[in-house]
Amino acid sequence: MDVRVYRSAEEASSAAAAHIAALVARKHEAVLGLATGDTPLLLYRQLIALVRSGGLDLSRTTTFNLDEYVGLSGDDPRSYGHYMRTNLFDPVGIDLARTHVPDGLAPDVEAECEAYEHAIAAAGGIDLQVLGIGADGHVGFNEPTSSLGSRTRIKTLTRRTRADNARFFESPDDVPLHVLTMGIGTILDSREVLLLAFGDGKADAVARTIEGPVGAIVPASALQLHRNVRVLLDDGAASRLALRAYYDEVAANLPP
Ligand code: F6R
Repeated sequence: MDVRVYRSAEEASSAAAAHIAALVARKHEAVLGLATGDTPLLLYRQLIALVRSGGLDLSRTTTFNLDEYVGLSGDDPRSYGHYMRTNLFDPVGIDLARTHVPDGLAPDVEAECEAYEHAIAAAGGIDLQVLGIGADGHVGFNEPTSSLGSRTRIKTLTRRTRADNARFFESPDDVPLHVLTMGIGTILDSREVLLLAFGDGKADAVARTIEGPVGAIVPASALQLHRNVRVLLDDGAASRLALRAYYDEVAANLPP
């Protein structure tokens, strides 16, 4: 894995935004996989700024989000569909027909998940997937012990994840128990992955992801099997990495 540690979440997010802008400049019709939560908010702010300054044109890109809560409509302010429109899609003016978020109200969940996988394939696959990481090592909502070959499907959130996400709800009990999420296999099929993590609270999951054994107990560790993953961290999230000095040395002396 290509591990980069930045002085701040802002700096890491700017680097991620520049990376995405370079990809879209090379491939205007790039397919982007997107995440929600706190972690990508600064990245989305940077992308909006780039679009407004003319440094990025997202009008021909297609997007697929990782996940959505079951039982929430995309108009519900607590849904990830709403989050995406507020934090990226509306500010950059992307045609919503080019954006995809699993339908949390789909009457036939299995058909919805299968259609989501087909839509990704029909778009040519995901060029670059943005990921955050849960404190328990989940990516998307692939909770510990998720199959490393899994595809988009319904999953049950752990108590810990529901507590972590309770800030958007009245209490942890109000956080939906179920989500639709891309699988680990879906994520591993993307051509490139940018994993962002900020703050001490992610340090343990980050160390186990990068330096621990590959195993379903830390779903993000499956990324070790992917050939093109860049991990962008701040000091807090990097604080438990045994090989931190090595990663800094590699980043400061990139091969020509
Ligand atoms: C969000 C997602 C989750 C989050 C993770 C971290 O679409 O798939 O895996 O990335 O729960 O959330 P934050 O960034 O809020 O700490």
